[in-house]
Amino acid sequence: MSNTRETASATAADTAPGAPSSSAPCGIMQRLRERTSGIHAETERLPLMAALLDPGVTPADYARYLAALHGVYASVEPALYAALSPTVVTRLGVRPKLPALQRDIAALGLSPCLPPSGRPPRAVVDGEAAVLGGLYVLEGATLGGRVIATRLQRTLGPEMGLPLSFLNFHGAEAGAAWRRFSAAMTDLCLQARAQDDAVAAGAVAVFEAVHRALREAGAGAQG
Ligand code: HEM
Repeated sequence: MSNTRETASATAADTAPGAPSSSAPCGIMQRLRERTSGIHAETERLPLMAALLDPGVTPADYARYLAALHGVYASVEPALYAALSPTVVTRLGVRPKLPALQRDIAALGLSPCLPPSGRPPRAVVDGEAAVLGGLYVLEGATLGGRVIATRLQRTLGPEMGLPLSFLNFHGAEAGAAWRRFSAAMTDLCLQARAQDDAVAAGAVAVFEAVHRALREAGAGAQG
């Protein structure tokens, strides 16, 4: 999986200087990828994530994954959207993913519950720049989500009718949605270049919240 991400970076680095930002995921996107690559790799290695990609995956693993992410999305996503103007949200081409997550959880016959610790996940994301970084994580998760969805379909079988509206959030439009998001992020951050550090800090804070939730959910399963 990491190779796929490295290939994406190489493609960005090969882009000709001066190319329009809509086709050049450089600048802030490159920086975000670099700043989060360590925690992304650590997250992929978590027992629950490894279980999802293992041939022995069970529907219970998938349910635990959705429940863990629900904790983060329910506590973080509404605050991120509330902090952005409708104009910026439209430019980014994003919409909340929480309803899809809740649909899938309900389709599995579950109701969202608190994590084993009993505390909802927290991420400190202050200011519009940090909020953009946080959205980068929630939106970028759709890229890996497609990889996980394809694997689950293969291992558990399409006949299980697994609800995948969260993992397959943008469906066939995933690539186009990510390009649009990347271009808008690049333009928005170019307008306020001094805030790149704040954007990256927001991304790291949200990624750490996701990581903690998935680690805790995996530990809960083992114990
Ligand atoms: C087993 C778990 C995961 C796998 C296998 C995985 C895999 C991937 C892959 C293959 C990509 C690159 C896609 C492409 O370039 O077309 C990617 C990108 C990304 N993933 Fe994951 N991912 C996983 C979990 C997560 C989680 C839990 C999050 C955060 C909630 C996340 C956030 C991101 C972000 C932000 C990107 C965009 C990176 C960029 O700037 O290019 N991933 N992931």
